[in-house]
Order: sequence, then C-alpha cells, then structure tokens
Amino acid sequence: MSLKNKPVAPTPLAPKTFAERVVQWQRQHGRHDLPWQANNQPYHVLVSELMLQQTQVSTVIPYFNNWLVQFPDIHALANAHEDQVLNAWQGLGYYSRARNLHRAAQYIVAEYSGQLPDAPELLREVPGVGPYTAGAITAFAFDKPAAIVDGNVKRLFARYFGIAGDLASSALNKQLWQLAERYTPTQNNRSYAQGLLDLGATVCKPRQPNCNLCPLQETCNALATDRVDTLPTAKKKKQIPTKQGYFLFSLTRAGVLLEQRPSEGIWPRLWSFPELEQASHKLSEHGSFKHVFSHYRLNAMVYSASSASGVERLHNTRVQRVAIEELEHVGLPAPIRKYLDTQLQLLNK
Ligand code: ADE
Repeated sequence: MSLKNKPVAPTPLAPKTFAERVVQWQRQHGRHDLPWQANNQPYHVLVSELMLQQTQVSTVIPYFNNWLVQFPDIHALANAHEDQVLNAWQGLGYYSRARNLHRAAQYIVAEYSGQLPDAPELLREVPGVGPYTAGAITAFAFDKPAAIVDGNVKRLFARYFGIAGDLASSALNKQLWQLAERYTPTQNNRSYAQGLLDLGATVCKPRQPNCNLCPLQETCNALATDRVDTLPTAKKKKQIPTKQGYFLFSLTRAGVLLEQRPSEGIWPRLWSFPELEQASHKLSEHGSFKHVFSHYRLNAMVYSASSASGVERLHNTRVQRVAIEELEHVGLPAPIRKYLDTQLQLLNK
C-alpha cells in the first residue's frame, strides 16, 4: 500500500481542551429545556436518570412531569403505596426500575434524611443506581466531577479515539471508563456531562452522524480514518426465544377480570388478564397480541371467558373483577391496557 493513501490517525486533544470544546458546544447547541434541568434538584435528577436508563427522552418527558405531580418530593415517594408507584410507571416497561426508585427514596430518607449524597461511591449504594447513574447524579445535580459512560458516550469515545471491538465486553468497558475518568474536567461538570450526552444524541448519532457540526471533528480518529460508519463495532444481534402465553378475557357490566401478577417474572405486581398455564380446547379464542421483552418475544392468545364457568374455577385470591371506572387507579402492562382499550372502544361504538 502506498503511504500516501493510508490515512493518518490524529492525536486526540488533551483532556482539558477536549472538555472545553464539549462545554462550549453544550452552552451554544446543547439541550437546556429538558424538564429535569429546570432546577437540577437531586430528586428530579434521580427520577429522570432511572426513567432514562432504558427509555428515550421524548417518551420520558410526560412520565417525568406526571411523576412530580404525584410524588412532588422524595418524602412523598418514600411514603407512597407501591401500587401507586407502579401505576405511575405503567407503560414505561422494565418495572424493576419503578420498584428500585421507590426503594431508593426510602433508603435516602432513612440513611440521609432525604438529602442525596454528592459522591459517586455513596450513590452507588442506592437501589437502582449503578456506576453510570451515580456519575450522572454527581454531575447533573451537584455539578461535581464524575465520569459517565452510557451508550451515547461509548459511541462517541469509540469513534473519537478509534476503538474497535465489542463495546459490551468487560475489557472494552474498563478501557472506556478509564478514558472517561481521565477526560472528566475539574469544573463545569454539569455542562460537560450534558454535552457528552447531547453530542451523542444529536451529532454523533448511531446512523448518519453530523460530523460537520461536531466540535471534535478535526481530531476524531474515526472521521480521519473513514471509519465513522463502522465504529463502534456492530454488536451481534441477540437471538431471543419466542414464548406462547395464554390469557383469559372476561368483560361484563361489573368490569374486567384481572389478576395481580406475582413479584417475580414479567410485569411484577401489575394487574393483567389471568394467565393460563397452557392452551385450552374448551375456551373459545377471543384475540391475540404480541409483545417483545428484552429476553423473549411473547405471542399471546386471548380466550374469552364470558360464561362464568371457567372464571369461577379461578380460586386465586389475586383474581378480581375490576370496574371500568377503577381502571385508571391500577397499574396495567401496556399491551394489556391496549387490548382492553380496543375492546372498550368496540363496545362504545
Ligand atoms: N440520558 C440520561 N440523562 C440524560 C440527560 N440529562 N439528558 C439527556 N439524555 C439523558
């Protein structure tokens, strides 16, 4: 190969200059109107960060606003009933986050009289708070130095420093966290952390990144070596199994038959159509729905149980008929609520 054609990898900026560029860019072009940025209250940051762990910003915003109406401060959340907490979370998925947030509030009230600590090591002890979230709370709520590495930061660093390989591997994770520590500035930590996330979300996007708008473009390794489209290395598509599920649908004037699910497994403690262990030849088919979880696809068959016969045999105390007017007060999994809403609309036509 001729030397002329081999692209030269640029030397990365020193940490101080890198951070100054990110902070400058954030102030001019970053996001400043996200609801949890309004006053950077630690409780607001905690709630938003747990919601944002697996959900995108646009989906989180209305949930976040509603959450503060229902649980205006950490004491209100700590004292709330779990049903109300799960109800406010319904539709966001990954319900362990809701239970962790509830426990986090109780832990912070018990251990710290309701004031979140401002050090990542202490924050990591809080239920639901891992290394990323501990760093995010330190930077966003307290404007103090802390590394943050989430999917956005991994992508940006993999491109900027030209790091190939499986981002999920522990070796690469370690390398990225070390880089993130080394590049964390000693001041302007809130703007720096927000700048990294905003760059990742709006400029250094997974597909069709806007490199011409990037404040780091002159020294970006991937851009110089023409690897923006191939870094970070694509992860292998996770193969997940498909499972069948069988549910009972019974809607009468008295309401809809619902079962509170156990604490373990999918939809913990939410109210769902009663689940059968296997397919039934006696019941007639009512409909079906599909849902994708992180670990499997659910193909659900719904049987109608309009006659009392099958229903009466459900001696389970978790099964109850819930009046339609009461439905707004109970937590239902999103696909169950959708199925039910469709049926209610059909009835009203
Ligand atoms: N994801 C996690 N925290 C965020 C924040 N503060 N702004 C935008 N996206 C985020």
